[in-house]
Amino acid sequence: MTFPVTRLRRLRYNSVLRQMVTETKLSADDFVMPLFVCSGTNVKNHINSMPGNYQLSVELLVEECKTIYAAGVKSVLLFGIPAHKDEDGSVACEHNGIVQQAIRAIKKELKDLYVIADVCNCEYTTHGHCGTIIDGDVDNDSTLITLAKQSVSLAEAGADMIAPSDMMDGRVGVIRAQLDANGFEKIPIMAYSAKYASGFYGPFREAAESAPKFGNRATYQMNPANSNEAIREVAQDIAEGADIVMVKPALSYLDVIYRVKNEFNMPVAAYNVSGEFSMLKAAAEKGWIDGPRVMMEILTSIKRAGADIIITYHAVEAANILNGKY
Ligand code: PBG
Repeated sequence: MTFPVTRLRRLRYNSVLRQMVTETKLSADDFVMPLFVCSGTNVKNHINSMPGNYQLSVELLVEECKTIYAAGVKSVLLFGIPAHKDEDGSVACEHNGIVQQAIRAIKKELKDLYVIADVCNCEYTTHGHCGTIIDGDVDNDSTLITLAKQSVSLAEAGADMIAPSDMMDGRVGVIRAQLDANGFEKIPIMAYSAKYASGFYGPFREAAESAPKFGNRATYQMNPANSNEAIREVAQDIAEGADIVMVKPALSYLDVIYRVKNEFNMPVAAYNVSGEFSMLKAAAEKGWIDGPRVMMEILTSIKRAGADIIITYHAVEAANILNGKY
């Protein structure tokens, strides 16, 4: 009979020691909370497929931001639901567009909340695609023009960071150039670099009213089977001037997060998307899993894989747990 000399359990018997050798620690500083802003006043529409999330009109959004900030989450990512849509998403570029209004209102009351503006056309086009349609498909280069305009307009409104989520080729370069030409050289770009054509966006499309009316997004978002291609996408965005690169979704793409972090040593964001959030909520509601516990495990796994920033609808709940408020 031989007994082991090396016993990995030695470091597990005592909870103080377990804490000391914990390799990955989440913090509320890691989180960004996505929010949906809509037109009107006093509007608070519950998003059925995303329990606890709402479409909010501007003044209620500001109130929600106060709660979020008070919970220790210092950044939000804004999505807009405009009153009217058009063919090419020009409504997203208007001085008084819905997100522009929201940013101004937030900055008036909460100047320290870090406001990230999502840049894409799908919430603003009648057809629900992420750009301008020519010959039945999203035209890359004409879409770049509206994306750059939208970005400049959001920066003028006071956005702290621009986050293009459209997956057009060359968008980061064009947006960077237009931001710089308009005096916004200090505004960083967080590029949704490896964004997959994923079924996990289902609940978001209900929330943002952005489902495509025909076809799908496979001609611009990535094939879920590919990770070498993700590396090419990320390299391209970095070359064009991205400051932070994103992998999205997070949970089914932890390998991609890991590869991107190791390959580039760039700040990496991961988007714990709507479907990931809703699956957890549904299973917890049925009593099949322990919701808060699984939430923390998932968020930890995303950070362990290499994400520095986690965009998550769980942000406030998780921050409350981390700050001992539950
Ligand atoms: C817009 C956009 C989407 C998401 C973020 N930005 C949806 C899509 O590409 O269809 C999804 C976020 C989520 O599911 O939480 N392009």
